[in-house]
Amino acid sequence: NSEVFILAIESSCDDTAAAVLHNDKVLSNVVANQLIHNQYGGVVPELASRAHQQNIVPVIDAALRKANVQKEQLSAIAFTQGPGLMGSLLVGTSFSKSLSLALNVPLIAVNHMHAHILAHFIDEEGYDKPEFPFLALTISGGHTQIVKVNSFFDMEIIGETTDDAVGEAFDKSAKILGLPYPGGPLIDKYAKEGNPKAFAFTKPKVPGLDFSFSGLKTAILYFIQKNKQANPNFIEENLNDICASIQHTIIEILIDKLKLAVKETGITQIAIGGGVSANSGIRKRLTENQYGWKTFIPKFEYTTDNAAMIGIVGYQKYLSNRFETSAVVSKARIQF
Ligand code: KG4
Ligand code: ZN
Repeated sequence: NSEVFILAIESSCDDTAAAVLHNDKVLSNVVANQLIHNQYGGVVPELASRAHQQNIVPVIDAALRKANVQKEQLSAIAFTQGPGLMGSLLVGTSFSKSLSLALNVPLIAVNHMHAHILAHFIDEEGYDKPEFPFLALTISGGHTQIVKVNSFFDMEIIGETTDDAVGEAFDKSAKILGLPYPGGPLIDKYAKEGNPKAFAFTKPKVPGLDFSFSGLKTAILYFIQKNKQANPNFIEENLNDICASIQHTIIEILIDKLKLAVKETGITQIAIGGGVSANSGIRKRLTENQYGWKTFIPKFEYTTDNAAMIGIVGYQKYLSNRFETSAVVSKARIQF
């Protein structure tokens, strides 16, 4: 079992990605971003599927070439089965089925949310892996979850958003400020120069470990409208402070729920993943170790949507013989 080569394919949303793993080590990790969506202020599903069709073969070719692995050496093909956009998932699923038939190697279906969590088990020089059980906080443009992870295949969602994802909260706030999509990284950038206590936004009152971000978006919209009436240049004159205050509020919401999750489970290892974990404020807050937690933040290329994380789940499933027949189908929503 020491010579497992997995080709992993991810196409759940707007990035076409392929990776090659040798056991738990990443040999290549290629992503083709679809910039076409930026002009629409969000992902357009129909355009995403078309772009996946164009990108999938060149991206897989590049991943194999960079890894210096021949198709004939592959032990299995792992692909994202869901959750995601159906038209996008279909491209990766169909391609993976065909390739597994052509090469006569097993096919492995991967849950995208499991992959965000198990990305922490990619073997990287100097990266300390979490030990079971741990808590995973997955935050991106599409997801916001706190998961109790008991083992590679035993995990339960203990909290999730009831409306918008954290990334959407960043992007929609940015849009209100007139910033281009996706605005999350820009809020982060301006927040660095601003005062996080300049403006106060009330945090939503959601029971238990669940989240809600739609109220915050509305509060920001009214706040901006009101202040612009008094001063048309309000945004321009206060952009750094506004961004710092929005980011501060979002981080407080996340930290409050993490504190509660730690209290309820007694688990103090926290692993974060998803594109929003790139946020410098969140990283700073989690690495300060104020609460005695041990936090795990993977390399940036493994936190945003990527295929290496699909590959590491593929490797674990390969070791335990969890294969699919070619009757397997994509699932926009998938049981956790
Ligand atoms: O994981 P990801 O690349 O794609 C999915 O949504 O699955 O996450 C993208 C999200 C976007 O909402 C983007 O605005 C947000 O992550 N994001 C950030 C930062 N970098 C990316 N949000 C806040 N601060 C950042 N530095
Ligand atoms: Zn994702």
